[in-house]
Amino acid sequence: MPQQFLEFQQQVEAVKTRYLTGEISEIERNDFIRQMNYHDTAWDDVWMLSPKGEWFRKATGSKVWIRDYPIALIDPDTLPPITEMNAHQVARVVHDCTRCGLHEGRKRAVPGEGPVPADIMLIGEGPGATEDQQARPFVGASGKFLDELLAQAGYKRAEVFIGNVVKCRPPNNRDPQPDELAACKEYLDRQVELVQPKVIVTLGRFSMYRYFPGASITKIHGQSKRVGDTLIVPMFHPAAALRNPAWRALLIEDFQKLPALVKEATSFRQPEPPAVNTT
Ligand code: URA
Ligand code: SF4
Repeated sequence: MPQQFLEFQQQVEAVKTRYLTGEISEIERNDFIRQMNYHDTAWDDVWMLSPKGEWFRKATGSKVWIRDYPIALIDPDTLPPITEMNAHQVARVVHDCTRCGLHEGRKRAVPGEGPVPADIMLIGEGPGATEDQQARPFVGASGKFLDELLAQAGYKRAEVFIGNVVKCRPPNNRDPQPDELAACKEYLDRQVELVQPKVIVTLGRFSMYRYFPGASITKIHGQSKRVGDTLIVPMFHPAAALRNPAWRALLIEDFQKLPALVKEATSFRQPEPPAVNTT
């Protein structure tokens, strides 16, 4: 597996060399590279490597390219402790994690995706059937709604980091259990540290409980709480809002608050103005 990714990488490098030696133009180089794909038959994913050297993946059954990194290129034997991992390394260990029983029923673990760092981090519950197939968060019906909510609030999905409190699909989409949430927590903790979000949106009860244990979502949704330099704002889960028109309207309204919350949280990180000496 790593061998095939490395060979593909070498083919792309060879095209870059043809540009460096003057054989092809920059435009030709970029066109050639963009047409090159590697089909990972193990998962039915298609990969490409941009002229800038960034990996993109088109998941099975999906039409969109997302920035990702082939876990096959990360050696599982030389990983640091989770608290020192980068985001790709977290995805690598999540991929074959067996810390809780949910690993038994998963097709693919869903580590989460998005830029690191990012202003906004969304934390959902756990993968559903489509997510389990594509190894991507929020790509089923609730994902489509989430994309709309983000767009209406002025954000592109690719700008935000999207994670979950459990990375493997619970059987029949049942609620994640306390032992599963506890087993998976360290991965999400590290992701939050790496993403350094200004605003964290918790979607649904289980991610809300991370920051507001025992709270009632109908009472506190849309109200932010400052934790360190980050604003945490609980919101309804998009899947629940799709089933309940009143919640749907409230969720749309809560998402509209995001730009102002990001602005507010940005001010937490700005250096204090120098003290003015009035004497
Ligand atoms: N629902 C979630 O909570 N997370 C996903 O990734 C998909 C659906
Ligand atoms: Fe590991 Fe989390 Fe998957 Fe459980 S849900 S197996 S802890 S990655």
